[in-house]
Amino acid sequence: MKIYLKTYGCQMNERDSEAIGAQLIGAGHTLSCDENDADVLLFNTCSVRDAAERKAKGKIGYLKKLKDRRPDILIGAVGCMAQRLGNQLLEELPHLDFVVGTGQLHKIVSIVEDFAKKRQRQVFTAESADVLTGMGEHQDHGAFGQIAITRGCNRFCTYCIVPYVRGREISRDKGDILTEAREMVDHGVREILLLGQNVAAYGLNGNTRPPANDVSPFGELLESLNEIRGLARIRYTSPYVTYFSDRLISALKNCDKVCHNIHLPLQSGSDRILKAMNRQYTASDYLRYVEKLRAAIPDVTFSTDVIVGFPDESDEDFKMTRDLMNEVGFSQSFIFKYSPRPGAKSAERPDSVPETVKEERNQILLGDLSARVEKMLLRQVGDTVEVLTEGVSHRNEARWTGRTGTNFVVHFEPTPNLQSGVLKKVKISRAGGVSLFGSIVEE
Ligand code: SAH
Ligand code: SF4
Ligand code: F3S
Repeated sequence: MKIYLKTYGCQMNERDSEAIGAQLIGAGHTLSCDENDADVLLFNTCSVRDAAERKAKGKIGYLKKLKDRRPDILIGAVGCMAQRLGNQLLEELPHLDFVVGTGQLHKIVSIVEDFAKKRQRQVFTAESADVLTGMGEHQDHGAFGQIAITRGCNRFCTYCIVPYVRGREISRDKGDILTEAREMVDHGVREILLLGQNVAAYGLNGNTRPPANDVSPFGELLESLNEIRGLARIRYTSPYVTYFSDRLISALKNCDKVCHNIHLPLQSGSDRILKAMNRQYTASDYLRYVEKLRAAIPDVTFSTDVIVGFPDESDEDFKMTRDLMNEVGFSQSFIFKYSPRPGAKSAERPDSVPETVKEERNQILLGDLSARVEKMLLRQVGDTVEVLTEGVSHRNEARWTGRTGTNFVVHFEPTPNLQSGVLKKVKISRAGGVSLFGSIVEE
């Protein structure tokens, strides 16, 4: 069968899609980029905000016409929204054939093949104990690869649906991760991105208390990965701030392949709001970790996630978020307008901040960010930075792009026969927009 697979949501979903795609290919099916030329259409969905759900539902709804024309095609919703809504999705979308939640994705091949024979609409959302099997499969991804090291989340931040749709946190076996990484490197991967809802909780058996200062199974994992010959870079996302034990910080400092960029979700700079979010740190705790990390890794950059308009967020609360963000000096930030998620705890409270205020706060933070990034970029003009080459720039075919370890995008003229996944020194000549421009310096 020809399978069209579209992914919504975060990198974890991208990674799941890669794994289920690899399983389908392994079973003799092919992937198609064209929804009009596929026998099976799969949508890997997200539930994190209402808009994400509406997007996937809208897309699937729109396919009714295609299904009317070609009743033989199969349409399936998989992933987080599939897990959350289950049967309700089948009711809302009468032309949807099956629903597969996050706990059953590893069975995708038999689900699709059985359905093609029996044609009986069905929902698969049970939590299964063997959820980690078959999810280590990869497709050929060139020089950049991703490995999920944990699944699920135990933190239950009050706004968040993820613990409900992804289930309890489980860490994968360290040996399996290392084997997977070595195989990827043998196939040409040069940069590995480690994924988890809280990667720094890796190996802590689902315990929600941060580790003691001399403990970090995640740090040990980084050290083992750092030994892999042929691997150039290791990135990870996202760690929860209070898990940066001294042990983890020393691992970050000692591993030359681990990039000097940390995505450190802040969510709010107001202690009152942080408490209502069940984020277990204060604004000053957060700053203390940032300072400790900067002391250990002087060129480290930070990016973050922030929610504006959480229930009851006042102008003062918002100002505290704004001030803290400016104080940390994030080089990137993802700002989200609060969206109540039915089933998550904060949804029991009124969504009290008007949409216009959420948007205003969003714009203020975006303005701060772009002014700050402009300065950060300008400061690098004249520097020689190390980039890992990616490929031809999407915006200008004459240029290539790559990123620094600190996660700035760099555009440069390619040298003859330049490959993707090679570390190159680039001298920065100017800054523009959100990126740097320069030329390769021959060694
Ligand atoms: N596990 C990751 C976050 C995954 S969700 C972590 O904790 O780092 C990605 C981001 O979406 C969150 O950091 C949060 O900022 C945002 N988010 C989650 N639930 C949300 C909601 N209900 N409304 C708005 N933004 C939300
Ligand atoms: Fe959601 Fe919090 Fe878990 Fe991140 S740590 S996935 S924000 S519950
Ligand atoms: Fe990711 Fe969305 Fe699921 S953010 S974990 S795909 S709810």
